[in-house]
Amino acid sequence: MPEVNIQDLVNSHVAGHTLQQPFYGDPDVFSVDRERVLDRLWHLAGHVSRVPAAGDYFLFRICGEEIIIVRGRDGDIHAHYNVCRHRGSRICSDSEGSKSALVCPYHAWTYNLDGSLRNARLMPEDFSTAGYGLHACRIKLLDGLIFVSLGDEPEELDGLDDACREYLSFHGIENAKIARRLDLPTGANWKLVVENFIECYHCTPSHPEYSSVHSELKLLAAGAGLGSGPDAACREYEKEIETWKAQVRALGHPLTEGEFDNGAGMVRMPIRDGFLTESRDGRPVSTLMGKFREYDGGITYIAFNYLNYLAASNDHAVLFRFTPISELLTDVEATWLVDADAQEGTDYDPERVSWVWDVTLGQDAIITENNQAGVLSGRYRPGPYSEQEAMNNYFTRWYLGCLRRL
Ligand code: FES
Ligand SMILES: [Fe+2]
Repeated sequence: MPEVNIQDLVNSHVAGHTLQQPFYGDPDVFSVDRERVLDRLWHLAGHVSRVPAAGDYFLFRICGEEIIIVRGRDGDIHAHYNVCRHRGSRICSDSEGSKSALVCPYHAWTYNLDGSLRNARLMPEDFSTAGYGLHACRIKLLDGLIFVSLGDEPEELDGLDDACREYLSFHGIENAKIARRLDLPTGANWKLVVENFIECYHCTPSHPEYSSVHSELKLLAAGAGLGSGPDAACREYEKEIETWKAQVRALGHPLTEGEFDNGAGMVRMPIRDGFLTESRDGRPVSTLMGKFREYDGGITYIAFNYLNYLAASNDHAVLFRFTPISELLTDVEATWLVDADAQEGTDYDPERVSWVWDVTLGQDAIITENNQAGVLSGRYRPGPYSEQEAMNNYFTRWYLGCLRRL
């Protein structure tokens, strides 16, 4: 691609259209993305049950960086850059594991789990280990969810933390365990991956299985946009929602709808008539989680930002993270959570728990890579969003707004 002037590109964006080609794959734009957008976010790295005991760790890869997420002896979870303070070698090479100390494989400098340098062999007598701890990465925990930020001044979640805590707690997210995890490195720019996830215009043609589980798609299939569409279809769907809300109130379960900055928001909605959970046939796939004592057939969506989401049914939850690696590679990870006391084989079968999103994310990887391939063509030009892609319009506006802060 020819060299690009990013401000010119930002200023020449046509409202209501997709972005211009360099935003979806130019390495210079990706550098600016990192500095202006990605470093300012809190990224969901995973669930605390990935590191249950002292020394358990996993690597979180993002934007060319590797972060070691490790449980310390004090029980706290730490985040360190995987960069030795001696000559810069990677310290951990396996993606996950358990270690009593973090020993660099090169010259064996040895770090404590909290990142402090314990020992540097054969260094001069006057060498002090004190100033050579591993570089710390910002970390914060939210009811069992681990978030990290690469920047010095990450934007807070603007009230979302407090607002969503009640729902994370009701769903028992802190007291959950991982039933299954799926890694889908996707050969596409992070914005195409995000844009695919936030619209359901493609659901009917691309996701027959997902569409068979979700009743709101009846409305979309009838041609309706967000808040618009054929009156009869809208009225029918609204009636369904109101009936469900009355049942939920009677059970004393929470209902929510809220929007925050940076793509964050929350909503609870019914899955479809007769469906207790988001499964192939709507029947339960595990034991009830958190404070649920009976099924209400709802699903709680929390968007922490445009890149990280939670979709929680009554008996399981799915975490989604879309993590930019480079301009043409995005790591897509889904983590299915069930109650910590549920027994595999007796209470749940990971395949049944993960069926809907396993098949859907596999399809998404293919359509997104197809999208990327076409966008890289010399004939690609920005195209108009449909009414059902209103979220994409918000997203591109937000994204360009971040770049205008240059
Ligand atoms: S680079 Fe790590 S000990 Fe030398
Ligand atoms: Fe999709």
